[in-house]
Amino acid sequence: MYRLVAALFLLTAATVSATAQNLPVPSYWLNQRGSEMKLYNIDAQGKFLGVFINHAAGFSCQNTPYDLEGRAWRNQVGFRVVWKNWVEDCKSMAVWHGRVSGHAIRTRWVLYVPRGNNLIPVLHGRDVFQLQP
Ligand code: BTN
Repeated sequence: MYRLVAALFLLTAATVSATAQNLPVPSYWLNQRGSEMKLYNIDAQGKFLGVFINHAAGFSCQNTPYDLEGRAWRNQVGFRVVWKNWVEDCKSMAVWHGRVSGHAIRTRWVLYVPRGNNLIPVLHGRDVFQLQP
């Protein structure tokens, strides 16, 4: 009985903590460039995992999934993708920051490339992700 109560308490605490952010997970998103974002898993601290499939015109590393990791807190969200998978290595990383607002995530992003021990920002922009049914 004690173990059951303890397990129920932990489950409730984890649920309350996980809902301290507005990001629905699991979920599937499309941005205005046609890129896909699939979010699979979120923990009690708001750390989430997923994959990003880039379809944006003018960029490399297209059409195959790249691991995504991020963090959500209240309505704020940040995530990043290192553009290296089993198909292609673009030697770059993108970081998005933004806010969840209804069924949309409005973000600003920066694309970085490594130079020596540093990451150099080379491009920036905005993406709006829409939640898909
Ligand atoms: C690269 O070309 O170095 C890797 C692909 C970068 C794709 C960028 S990340 C921000 C923007 N939003 C997208 O959906 N794709 C581009």
